[in-house]
Amino acid sequence: MPRYFTEANSEETVNARMGAEIDPRLRQIMAALVRHLHAFAKEVALTEAEWAFGIDFLTKAGQMCSEERQEFILLSDVLGLSMLVDAINHRRPPGATENTVLGPFHVAGAPERAMGESISLDGKGETCLYTGRVLTVGGAPIVGARIDVWSDNAEGFYSVQQPGLQDKWNNRGVFITGPDGHYEFIGIKPVSYPIPDDGPVGKMLTALGRHPRRPAHMHFMITAPGYQRLVTHTFVGDDPWLSTDAVFGVKASLIAPFEPATDGRTRWRSPFDFVLVADTDAPTAHPPDRR
Ligand code: BEZ
Ligand code: FE
Repeated sequence: MPRYFTEANSEETVNARMGAEIDPRLRQIMAALVRHLHAFAKEVALTEAEWAFGIDFLTKAGQMCSEERQEFILLSDVLGLSMLVDAINHRRPPGATENTVLGPFHVAGAPERAMGESISLDGKGETCLYTGRVLTVGGAPIVGARIDVWSDNAEGFYSVQQPGLQDKWNNRGVFITGPDGHYEFIGIKPVSYPIPDDGPVGKMLTALGRHPRRPAHMHFMITAPGYQRLVTHTFVGDDPWLSTDAVFGVKASLIAPFEPATDGRTRWRSPFDFVLVADTDAPTAHPPDRR
């Protein structure tokens, strides 16, 4: 007697259709996805109208996607999935700098600038000296680390959001550490901004009584031969949106000092050391508890 689909056996029936010779990881992922998807529909007793609404939502998200806009990643971000995948894949030992989301506004190929140079090409905003060292977990300086930095402008827009208005490389640059692992550059004290909320994800946030804002932050991507890539931000500690970041990217260890500068060069000063994990270090088995 063939096994026909019923409400009770739905997930097993669907998963039993997979071929015997398929990739084992594909089998594991799809079986779990079907199990959870069916459990979700059963838990909420999904109506046909709700199912159709969901399909329409996903269709609109797809239609919103272009070379410049990735609505599905934005959806993953606001659902906390991006941060969860990031956390699972970047478990680090105590003392190492934590990762956070890359976000959609990184542009590869930013100009390499001399240490101490400014990344603010429009001269707007409150100037800030970013300074510190790139170190190993043992505290040794990392020479030749490549620090790629980017932030929004004083009005809360990244250069790629305003192609005719901002220089492509405004508030962006690459710095290479010297023998002492030291870095410094001048940027602006970043401001908080809303994630792109003119599409289905924005509508979803409104329907859920959520706001689209991210607390002010400076992005860093740090690479050095022999070390795991670090993708992170430093956050401005007094930002009112810190505890409700729309994409859950804030970690306590990434809140940096932003203190008034006293040397007359800049208005603010933000000292922060970054600690990289060697490629050869054993993976951290369990998530460190840093609640
Ligand atoms: C960002 O920090 O640039 C960002 C991250 C996730 C979604 C939107 C923006
Ligand atoms: Fe950002």
